[in-house]
Amino acid sequence: MKRTEIKEALCCSEYGKSINVKGWVRSRRGNKNVSFIALNDGSTIKNIQIVADLEKFSEDDLKLITTGASISVDGTLVESMGKGQNVEIQAEKIEVYGTADPQTYPLQKKGHSLEYLREIAHLRPRTNTFGAVLRIRHNMAMAIHTYFHEHGYFYFHTPLITASDCEGAGQMFQVTTKNLYNLKRTPDGQIDYSDDFFGKMTALTVSGQLEGELGAMALGKIYTFGPTFRAENSNTPRHLAEFWMIEPEVAFIQKDELMELEEDFLKYCVRWALDKCQDDLQFLNDMFDKSLIERLRGVVNTDFVHLTYTEGVNILQEAIKNGKKFEFPCNWGDDLASEHERYLVEEHFKKPVIMTDYPKEIKAFYMKLNEDGKTVQGTDVLFPAIGEIIGGSVREENYDKLMAEIDRRQIPMKDMWWYLDTRRYGSAPHAGFGLGFERLLLFVTGMQNIRDVIPFPRFPKSAEF
Ligand code: 4AD
Ligand code: MG
Repeated sequence: MKRTEIKEALCCSEYGKSINVKGWVRSRRGNKNVSFIALNDGSTIKNIQIVADLEKFSEDDLKLITTGASISVDGTLVESMGKGQNVEIQAEKIEVYGTADPQTYPLQKKGHSLEYLREIAHLRPRTNTFGAVLRIRHNMAMAIHTYFHEHGYFYFHTPLITASDCEGAGQMFQVTTKNLYNLKRTPDGQIDYSDDFFGKMTALTVSGQLEGELGAMALGKIYTFGPTFRAENSNTPRHLAEFWMIEPEVAFIQKDELMELEEDFLKYCVRWALDKCQDDLQFLNDMFDKSLIERLRGVVNTDFVHLTYTEGVNILQEAIKNGKKFEFPCNWGDDLASEHERYLVEEHFKKPVIMTDYPKEIKAFYMKLNEDGKTVQGTDVLFPAIGEIIGGSVREENYDKLMAEIDRRQIPMKDMWWYLDTRRYGSAPHAGFGLGFERLLLFVTGMQNIRDVIPFPRFPKSAEF
């Protein structure tokens, strides 16, 4: 018999129909007449109830059907008298594909802590929580591709191995085939990369932006969506060493249109989750965060605040004057800490904020310089519960100004001639942003730790699984 997915079976009302379902046992309970098996196959957070009559199945047959076992059930779809479900399956035949020894199976009881589940990341997708998070993760990826496709953007693939440090923060993982125990050196003691695979020093990319700009300078509107790597040694609930980033880049737009795009795009993604992930969101709302769905609706229904960095710092300094305590200082020129961002968003405005016009010293070299010569046209989006979710900017399209900044920062440019060529040939105003995919997922799922919104997180001292 052809398998029916549980999601579909639960919506079916053809009572009396023969049906086959397959999945993993969540629990089995019963009495001396009947056994009830809760079965889940990942297609939905909901389980289907299998009713096994002890007239048809002996205790011996049933004893292999323990939590975690994989089974295939042939039976009859019947209307359920039980609460919270419309249908169940009266089992005729059960085949056990794989048993799960109750003595050792690590997912025995309900309500394991998220910390414990992180240690068994190979099995945690089988829990309700991670099933919900991972289905939402898939849905957000679909929302992102759909949004850009429908708005005329082209999906542009940028390399993962690169010789340039886009953000200039020196947080790159090196890529090499050299023998690390016997490194060839130049006469002055430097490592000689001439015999390395690429003939020069290379690393995993921290951003696809620089190549994305090349795409936008030809196709007009592009976006990237791929893995990104940062060797920042920050053990925070908001940083990963390997994360996914979405980076649209658009020719011929200014700051205002960039901010409009950021807001429209984020609202589209959150609306998609509200529309298409109802069961999973309801579960996360009930289990972890009673204000989750309300917060998602809030973002969809409010206009984001537009605020310059300077205005933001003034508000924060005013708050400090009135007795607000922060861990980190907040002077003009400092990078805002997450606590500052969250104060503005959660306490002061109670709305998402798009912060613009940052001091150039705290931003990357490629951002467009303002008339004041001090600030650049960055456009970061700050979200409740998250802080920075998007980092964006208008790009400096003027060759001389860009070169001056590169010189000032002493950025080694010999590997960046191709980037500068965009400013020499047909340079045009353009802008773009980067959305951290897992930051979006933190917001949409209400999870507290970024390690819980990616199947197999990479962070300092951890590359298990
Ligand atoms: O602000 P960032 O560093 O900006 C860029 O990389 C630009 N090149 C983007 C662009 O304009 N095309 O990173 C962008 C976003 C951040 O706002 C944050 O959401 C996420 O990427 N992010 C991280 N997410 C998880 N772990 C990390 N270590 C992250 N670092 C940045
Ligand atoms: Mg940033």
